[in-house]
Amino acid sequence: MAKALAFSCTACGATHSKWSGQCDACGAWNTIVEEAPLSSGPRGKGLGARKGATIPLADLASPEAPPPRTISGMDEFDRVLGGGLVPASATLVGGDPGIGKSTLLLQAAARFALAGQKTIYISGEEASAQVRMRAQRLGLAEAPVKLATETSLRDILTTLDAERPDLCIIDSIQTMWSDTVDSAPGSVSQVRAACHELTQFAKRRGTAVILVGHVTKEGAIAGPRVVEHMVDTVLYFEGERGHQFRILRAVKNRFGPADEIGVFEMTGAGLAQVPNPSALFLSDNETPAPGTAVFAGIEGTRPVLVEFQALVAPAPAGQARRSVVGWDSGRLAMILAVLEARCGIPFAGMDVYLNVAGGLRVSEPAADLAVAAALLSAREDVALPKGMVVFGEISLTGALRPSAQTENRLKEAQKLGFSSATLAEGSKVSSGGGMDLRQMSDLTSFVGEMFGA
Ligand code: TYD
Ligand code: MG
Repeated sequence: MAKALAFSCTACGATHSKWSGQCDACGAWNTIVEEAPLSSGPRGKGLGARKGATIPLADLASPEAPPPRTISGMDEFDRVLGGGLVPASATLVGGDPGIGKSTLLLQAAARFALAGQKTIYISGEEASAQVRMRAQRLGLAEAPVKLATETSLRDILTTLDAERPDLCIIDSIQTMWSDTVDSAPGSVSQVRAACHELTQFAKRRGTAVILVGHVTKEGAIAGPRVVEHMVDTVLYFEGERGHQFRILRAVKNRFGPADEIGVFEMTGAGLAQVPNPSALFLSDNETPAPGTAVFAGIEGTRPVLVEFQALVAPAPAGQARRSVVGWDSGRLAMILAVLEARCGIPFAGMDVYLNVAGGLRVSEPAADLAVAAALLSAREDVALPKGMVVFGEISLTGALRPSAQTENRLKEAQKLGFSSATLAEGSKVSSGGGMDLRQMSDLTSFVGEMFGA
């Protein structure tokens, strides 16, 4: 029988029976590669050969007991994990190359080791001397972390079996190589096999495993999304390269809330924690400039104030550009369409640029109204009132919907010196705490009130 070929997408891991230019699962182009087919397993072991042992649900440990956690003392890191690292768990930390994953994890490893956890840091990318040099630069050379440079999965598992660490960091999963799989390191099947074996090891031996995964732009190397479903916790380390701020974001967490963020600043001596980030993403303009709007947002459990900046300029005939940094481009298109259809304000024939200050990525729908406000302010070249924050979701009908945690948003805005807020009618506010509140039912009344249209 001819050997069945298998193809998989290096961006999302979906398997396909034939090659094509675009992955129909995730829509990425040029990411489908041929993979070595998985082996069919040992012969002669069909159904009934061996039964997996079962235990009654009631015999398990008390369900109220939260998982025991170990704390690094690096609060921004512990919080994103849901309050510390859970033993026997597998965590994936993804991010663009050069964003600071190795730096973050070396710092975390040192903190865990100093807190009494037996910690091993395995690097497949840098020589031990390089990792040591970095540790010295970070002032962590004395931390009792064990280092290894190794890419063979078999050797790593043997080492881990002998050492029995509490925490093991693998930097990175794309450099690991298993001799049971017949393809190059970094390919979908290698990355999957390495992740599978290391997660199995974590469950079996009670070691917490943290895997580093590079986000890849081209299709040659498998990205971290390929293994997201195999691990307990998925964190992404994000930030704009030109900015010093970095955000660690939980996108999946079996042991805590997803969407929690930790904020760091990249300094000459490694990553410094930013314990109170709420004013970080505001520009220091005393008077608001046309095209800017301040959004009172919530990231995870914390309120964060963010400045949206928009620029609207006439476009050369037939070539209107839409460019977005830090916000969803589909959502921008929707808001432009609602402004045109419900409020009669067209953006056709105009270039539209939208940017979130400071390199944050905002995903809350509550930011809709702030985006609309920035766009209108840019288009009309009229600045919004001084000291005003804006939030509320916009529906396709042009109606404004109230957002969760209104009180928290207002409190933080007031703390940072804002005096008024524009929000959706029906938002749950008890007092407003002395803020001047303008509650509106739809986008048309917002346009009328702000720009007198
Ligand atoms: P790194 O942790 O190697 O990134 P990754 O593992 O995600 O590829 O970080 C590399 C960048 O961080 C590099 O551009 C230099 C910068 N950096 C600092 O600015 N300060 C520091 O103390 C360190 C260690 C790195
Ligand atoms: Mg690295």
